[in-house]
Amino acid sequence: MFPYASDAPDTVAPAAAPPGWWREAVIYQVYPRSFADGNGDGMGDLPGIRSRLPYLKELGVDALWLNPFYASPQADAGYDVADHRAVEPVLGTLADAEELIRYAHELGMRVIVDLVPNHSSDQHEWFRRAREEGPGSPYRDRYHFRPGKGASGELPPNDWTSVFGGPAWTRTENPDGTPGDWYLHLFAPEQPDFDWEHPAVRHEFRSILRFWLDRGIDGFRVDVAQGLIKAEGLPDIGRTDQRRMLGTEATPIWDQDGVHEIYRSWRRILDTYPGERIAVAEAWAPTAERTALYVRPDELHQTFNFALMGASWDAEEIRQVVDTSLEAVRTVGASATWVLSNHDTCRHATRFAGPQPEGQRHRAGDRTLGLRRARAATLLMLALPGSAYLYQGEELGLPEVTDLPDEARQDPAFARSGETDGFRDGCRVPMPWTVAGPSHGFGTGGSWLPQPEGWGMLSVEAQMSDPDSTLELYRAALALRRRHPGLGAGDTVQWDDAPDGVLAFRRPGFVCTTNTADRALTIPLPGRPLLSNSPIEDVEGPPGAAFALPAHTTVWWTA
Ligand code: BGC
Repeated sequence: MFPYASDAPDTVAPAAAPPGWWREAVIYQVYPRSFADGNGDGMGDLPGIRSRLPYLKELGVDALWLNPFYASPQADAGYDVADHRAVEPVLGTLADAEELIRYAHELGMRVIVDLVPNHSSDQHEWFRRAREEGPGSPYRDRYHFRPGKGASGELPPNDWTSVFGGPAWTRTENPDGTPGDWYLHLFAPEQPDFDWEHPAVRHEFRSILRFWLDRGIDGFRVDVAQGLIKAEGLPDIGRTDQRRMLGTEATPIWDQDGVHEIYRSWRRILDTYPGERIAVAEAWAPTAERTALYVRPDELHQTFNFALMGASWDAEEIRQVVDTSLEAVRTVGASATWVLSNHDTCRHATRFAGPQPEGQRHRAGDRTLGLRRARAATLLMLALPGSAYLYQGEELGLPEVTDLPDEARQDPAFARSGETDGFRDGCRVPMPWTVAGPSHGFGTGGSWLPQPEGWGMLSVEAQMSDPDSTLELYRAALALRRRHPGLGAGDTVQWDDAPDGVLAFRRPGFVCTTNTADRALTIPLPGRPLLSNSPIEDVEGPPGAAFALPAHTTVWWTA
């Protein structure tokens, strides 16, 4: 009968706001290059984002997180920052950033900005001088310069590999033209790693924090938060599958204990500002317990929990992820976070469309199935305690663009891996706002990545007011989440018995049921339905009566 019941009577009084707005916030990730292009140059920008803020307000999110918009040669789409206090001219001006923050606040939304402390651009003044001035330059020690191994220093200083493929070291030339030292870059060669043992680096970042806090931002998303400190002596790892080890095994590269002192000093700064300014870490650590260390009460406020993003569409696996994640943050009194899609990962509408080859080109798969599961997964995520991070376009059910022409790809890992990896452009294709028009309302001058055939039919314009659309499903879900105290709040779920393939959990006054199987499964009727991602039959009978939960469907119920 009804795909969802956004107009179901609202019988529950709003909950008193718990301390810490971030604990249950819905935070929408804006990828500035691809959200909206205000000046028609084919690249999204800050004025474009500003013009679309009312859309985000209506969608019902609490905050936005902006990927880097700082001055950058864009070797890694802005994660190669040349000046942390300046806006990349292609994306706007500092005044545009200030206006964006101001207007978001006027609309009642908070703004989180990306902070990239692990590395800079090779065009950052410090690195340029370190390279140009050669050995002896005071700027050298702010990065990791080392002599090479081998008779004439022709081999890299250790066996570390870059996350983007190839060695993590690049050799420099001395000012006299002779081959010189090597420098460390855990990502692209254009992204040299800072040496965080140097006091000037620590001082500089404390000052950068204040610079943006003074401009009114509400928080930072800390890029590669687990990478700042490297093990002393930069020892060899002795393995070639280092990329695989990221976030799953202890290595001398990642998650060294020394990082925590840095975050404690940042927390002290954040706490001096009014209005609960926060930091959320992108921290890949080997275990949920190690990840929780980043969110101890005197460190950062949140850390992304990528476990749900890594889970298959399988009830048992998802249940384990939920339990482990909640338990880990509970031990330190932090709130959970949930993510299904972001700018580095295959979009969940495609991930769930069939098996995806690891580290290779994604497959389009069965789109209808993928979208149905994705919508069910989103409702499940939004019913969990903690905050949820949404990635732009997921509210339109956008699939990954799997058939981008190779020559259009800009992900640096694509070239560095010999075109066998680095397919992140597929989730970064500019947003469709309108059915027709040169770049479907993204801008007036085309788009930096080609939009695929049929993109307009997925646009905001096409979905707005269509009760079956994914956009309206998200809007209904977010509206209910705001009004219903059982959603988002707290730190536990209570599992109900359910047949294999079904997840059923209870929150105060509320039940969420998800069927991950490809056929309907019978469950005891939990109560009155509030919302569902696919049509459900007329629900009749007393609580406990048999109810056929359709395949790949989540239903929210009042209990
Ligand atoms: C960001 C990536 C970026 C990398 C290097 C990641 O964690 O999310 O987009 O390429 O850091 O800065």
